[in-house]
Parts: sequence; C-alpha cells; structure tokens
Amino acid sequence: MDIFEAVYQRRSIRNYKDMPVEENILEEIIEAGTWAPSGVNLQPWFFAVIRSKEQLTKMKEIMECVSKRIEPDLKKRFEKHPSVVDDTTRFIKSMGGAPVCILAFRMKPDYADKADMVNLSIAAAMENILLAATGKGLGTCWLTAPVEAEVGQELKNIFATGKGELVGMITMGYPADSVKTLKPPLRKEGRYEFF
Ligand SMILES: Cc1cc2nc3c(=O)[nH]c(=O)nc-3n(C[C@H](O)[C@H](O)[C@H](O)COP(=O)(O)O)c2cc1C
Repeated sequence: MDIFEAVYQRRSIRNYKDMPVEENILEEIIEAGTWAPSGVNLQPWFFAVIRSKEQLTKMKEIMECVSKRIEPDLKKRFEKHPSVVDDTTRFIKSMGGAPVCILAFRMKPDYADKADMVNLSIAAAMENILLAATGKGLGTCWLTAPVEAEVGQELKNIFATGKGELVGMITMGYPADSVKTLKPPLRKEGRYEFF
C-alpha cells in the first residue's frame, strides 16, 4: 500500500472481528515500529504484545477497572453526548474484541532529563505500528486511557518487569466493519501555515 493511502485510510477502530492476526504479520508490524526515529538513537521503547487468550482475559479485567476510573471524567467531558460515554466505556472494557493488544513501555525505568524525548520517540514508533498495520489491512486504536487510569504499574508488574513507565496502548485486529464506510472525524482548519 502506498504510504499516503495508509495515512488516509488509518482510522481508530473500536470494533474487531473474532479473527486472529497471523504471527508473521504481527512480527513485521512490530519490527516496523522499531524502525522509527528516536532521540539520540536511544530506541527507548519496549512493546509487550499480548495475544494469548489467557493474557487477553487478564488485560480485560484490568481494562474493566480502567473504564470505571475514567467514567466520571468522560461523563463531565461529554455531558451532552451520553452515547459517547457509553461507546467509549464499552470499547475500553472489551477492547472492542481485539485479538491483539500492544503495551508500549519505556525500555528503562530512568532516562533522567530525556523523558520528553523518550516519550516522543515511543510515540513515533507507535505511529509506525499503526501505519504498518493499516498497510496489512488491520485496524488499530491508540489508547492512553490505561495511563490516565494509573494502571501502568500493575501492567508493568505483569508484562514488563524491570522496564520503565507505560506510555500507551494499541488495540489491533481485523476491523469488524469496512473502514471505507466509517466516517472519519473531520480535520480542523488552521493547523498549518507555509512561510
Ligand atoms: C495519544 C492518543 C491517545 C488516545 N487515547 C484514546 C483512548 O484512550 N481511547 C480511545 O478510544 N481513543 C483514543 N485515541 C484515539 C483518538 O480518539 C482518535 O485518534 C481521534 O479521535 C481521531 O480519529 P482517527 O484516529 O480515526 O483519525 C487516542 C489517540 C492518541 C493519538
């Protein structure tokens, strides 16, 4: 797939088919993540790729707690749109039925004064993963909800002992609905200028 096609076809997918992602495809996608640029070439990411039924069940238990913790905030933010609150909490609890969940941690517990650079580099790797997955016909959704709900330490204890903080999470799988039928959120005006 052409890179521009991947950029424009990528959508946040919150509903997945009950269908596994082929192991070789998954490896290619994660490898593509590691080819992102990184500040002073630190390559400061660690990805825990969760796809066994047992570990996904564990994840769902933790996501149930994430959903409960962020619900009051969502209710305030989307006071006039209760359906957004319902859809978001349903997605978070179930992970949309995704057969793969990727947790992005800092590789090391301490990067001293380089924390911002480290997070930016991990974000670059995460975007590589989203685009590579789109190129393979897969859907993804980036989530910071587990970070906001402060379950990072718990996740680190299970999936990333000795590594650094949780930075984000990605759900991945084959989209339940055709991506072309999804209405993309409109892009806002005034977000760039040429000089
Ligand atoms: C840093 C970041 C955090 C996000 N966190 C969440 C989240 O916790 N839950 C969720 O459902 N979507 C989350 N999203 C997805 C955004 O809601 C989505 O990208 C945005 O609405 C634009 O839609 P699109 O991705 O389909 O273009 C996040 C995206 C980013 C980049």
